[in-house]
Amino acid sequence: MQNTISHLQCVTCKRQFAEDEIEYTCPDCGPVRGTLDVVYDFKQVKRLLSREKLKSCTEASHWRYLPLLPVHNPDFIQPLRVGWSPLYQPHRLLQELQMPRLYFKDDSGNVTHSYKDRASSVAIVKALEKGYSGIAAASSGNAAASISAFAASAGLPCHIFVPKAIPQAKLAQLRAYGADVILVDGPYDEAFDLCMLEAPKNNWYNRNTAINPYLAEGKKSSALEICEQLNWNPPKTVLVPVGDGCIISGVWKGFKDLYELGFIDFLPHLVGVQAEGSSPLVKAFQQGRDDVIPEQVSTIADSISVGFPRDQIKALRAVHQSGGMFVSVSDQEIVSALHKLPANSGIFVEPAAATAFAGLLKLREQEKISDDDRVVVLLTGSGLKDISAFLESNGH
Ligand SMILES: Cc1ncc(COP(=O)(O)O)c(C=O)c1O
Ligand SMILES: [Zn+2]
Repeated sequence: MQNTISHLQCVTCKRQFAEDEIEYTCPDCGPVRGTLDVVYDFKQVKRLLSREKLKSCTEASHWRYLPLLPVHNPDFIQPLRVGWSPLYQPHRLLQELQMPRLYFKDDSGNVTHSYKDRASSVAIVKALEKGYSGIAAASSGNAAASISAFAASAGLPCHIFVPKAIPQAKLAQLRAYGADVILVDGPYDEAFDLCMLEAPKNNWYNRNTAINPYLAEGKKSSALEICEQLNWNPPKTVLVPVGDGCIISGVWKGFKDLYELGFIDFLPHLVGVQAEGSSPLVKAFQQGRDDVIPEQVSTIADSISVGFPRDQIKALRAVHQSGGMFVSVSDQEIVSALHKLPANSGIFVEPAAATAFAGLLKLREQEKISDDDRVVVLLTGSGLKDISAFLESNGH
């Protein structure tokens, strides 16, 4: 297969690296400021991918965009369901909200029932291409469940660092897929640091968010799908739930790549939605900072309970460049959205995903989104992932 990648580039100092010259982050700028962008040779991509070719493409997964994904050996792609998720317009909800041009991108049908499968499907290919004999990740739960499934499919040993407080369904997934689970007696941020220490010691490929440059490439694929599903007429606004900030960075990368390719004519505004009790990026945005002050966090939305977002530089850059914003919603607003969405649409999501919908409701109340706006809300995980959050809460 033809290589469509040009190079990797540090987000801060802009230094360029050949693919085989670097694994994770820029040595000069470090693991937080030195995250890398994957830059494509768009001339090559254009030869292999066009809007016309996509029209007749029968691949019902995000691999339909293979030339725009960082894969050299497609034999390593695992046969698990990822991407090409539905873009719903639930009539009753649209009517109630008086938003005829509102869409929900529902990623709960991926193989492990969260958005993270988009990234893990790519990470496993990179681990195999690079010849690692194991893969590791720290996660609040979904990324862990996701990479465990892809590792089980590939037969690669998988080592997972998660907080002890992980929801039961996510823990069950880890056990089912046969991962080596290290339960950390602390928050996600501690699990992340532990994995950073252990992965290089043991020669495991590190799937930790942000520091692995290929994850955002997987995470960008919903943006490609949204544009194609809307006949290359992008929405005005996309709402994304944010923890570490890798999804929102990836989504922005997806829109930008399509713009570079000439597939779309304008770029959407991105709205990053955080839970009030875990909102360091909202604060950084409001204070005009380009980095984050770490905070102690607590929210019902465990997947986005992150005190020190690892993809902070790219996430803030994405929202600024898109002319969007960061907003926070209270746990009560998240709970209310958690109940309102399934009852009026048939789509049951976990609290982190409901956070994006809560952000929409808030911005509607504040009249920052108008009736006629074309808006997409990303729904990033199934409600079955955390049923106690639902059963123990009251939406009224
Ligand atoms: C369901 C869900 N939504 C949103 C997010 C936030 O993604 P990110 O940490 O890349 O901002 C996560 C991350 O774990 C998640 O699991
Ligand atoms: Zn650098």
